Amino acid sequence: MDRLEIRDSVQSDHAAIESLYREAFPGEDLLPLVRELLQDAAIAISLVGTTDSRIAGHAIFTICGVAGSGVKAALLGPLAVAPTCQRQGIGSAIVRAGLRRLENADVSLVCVLGDPAYYGRLGFVPESLVEPPFRLPADWHGAWQSQHLGDSSTPCAGKLSVPPQWLHPALWAP
Ligand SMILES: CC(C)(COP(=O)(O)OP(=O)(O)OC[C@H]1O[C@@H](n2cnc3c(N)ncnc32)[C@H](O)[C@@H]1OP(=O)(O)O)[C@@H](O)C(=O)NCCC(=O)NCCS
Repeated sequence: MDRLEIRDSVQSDHAAIESLYREAFPGEDLLPLVRELLQDAAIAISLVGTTDSRIAGHAIFTICGVAGSGVKAALLGPLAVAPTCQRQGIGSAIVRAGLRRLENADVSLVCVLGDPAYYGRLGFVPESLVEPPFRLPADWHGAWQSQHLGDSSTPCAGKLSVPPQWLHPALWAP
């Protein structure tokens, strides 16, 4: 693999990011969510991984809260790596870079809804105290995970409060 560089996305990356999601998620339309999040730099950290100046991977980290607490949290997703570039460590590297950014921004909890076989390797563990914005199907519960950043191991509980872009039940159901 050519050298991987990870940086914030810019407006001129958006078409390539959209192509990436069409390739990585052929059966799932995440583009409306991705487009909405990309429009709101105040709440979304959007990172691209490039090899040879081409976008090979992308992830968004949305800044959130936990209702009833002062905890600064984030939600990871979506995450996509181009099919021809998968299993080369690109997805993991982008996630780790995002976690470092969030820690530097005093975010203390990062949640994700995804395959524990993948996110467990990146330090995520099942989350039972902080609830997702919508009730998940029973067999998805292991998919709701989190990780504490920095020295913030103090447990917090409550519903993750997400911005409107994430308030669509379809994003939280099969
Ligand atoms: C899931 C995804 C983001 C992983 O990115 P990646 O750059 O390929 O992953 P990495 O190279 O960092 O890690 C690869 C390891 O994760 C595992 N892995 C990859 N995709 C996985 C998946 N969907 N579920 C579980 N484990 C997975 C592999 O076993 C691999 O380990 P191995 O090569 O030792 O067997 C990428 O495969 C992808 O975009 N897939 C399609 C979209 C998708 O399912 N996204 C899920 C996130 S919402």
